[in-house]
Amino acid sequence: THTASSNTVYQQHPVSSAQRAQLKRQQPVVLWFTGLSGSGKSTLAGALEQALWQANRHTYVLDGDNVRHGLCGDLGFSQEDRAENLRRVAHSAALMLDAGLIVLSAFISPSREERQRVRKIIGSERFIEVHVATPIEVCESRDPKGLYAKARRGEIPNFTGISAPYQEPLEPELRLDTSKVELPELVQQLMAYLNQRGILD
Ligand code: PPS
Repeated sequence: THTASSNTVYQQHPVSSAQRAQLKRQQPVVLWFTGLSGSGKSTLAGALEQALWQANRHTYVLDGDNVRHGLCGDLGFSQEDRAENLRRVAHSAALMLDAGLIVLSAFISPSREERQRVRKIIGSERFIEVHVATPIEVCESRDPKGLYAKARRGEIPNFTGISAPYQEPLEPELRLDTSKVELPELVQQLMAYLNQRGILD
């Protein structure tokens, strides 16, 4: 139920997004971390942001747990609500790209189709899908918020990986497993990827 406003036109401002990005000496991109609850999305995004900050890069982290308190505070975990959650996040990320930032987002984003939609909104050349492919057994044994235990007891309906699906990315730009490789090494791999793509030139 989202109607494109018919009485508005796009306002062309004198400073372009390319000019804003130039000021930052970086190519604005979104690193879209997707994976199960407890897979390490937020931890990775935070650690990468720290490395980028140390390299004088202007970043912003969009995180499920935070966004769901404000911007998406009215949404739950049905398929429709998750889709709306990601739609709002994708458009927020697009605004930040326009501002010249490197955006790190950490959302389960379990649906392949919805991730495709996000990729379209962002623009494929600026969208880097990072599959945090930590096995569910490891996520469940970590259970930092006790949510898997609750879900097993039937106390959380539609819990991803237990009673709701997670569709693994088929061709992510990167695939990382936090149960196999230590965090600093994963951050190095991400930084190497960004350098190799010329994003930090
Ligand atoms: S989604 O699917 O992308 O819209 O989810 P997201 O916005 O990333 O929110 C995931 C966090 O919400 C908590 N939570 C749940 N996750 C999955 N399924 C259900 N039913 C659920 N209910 C609450 C959970 O803490 C997730 O946090 P992370 O950081 O992923 O563990």
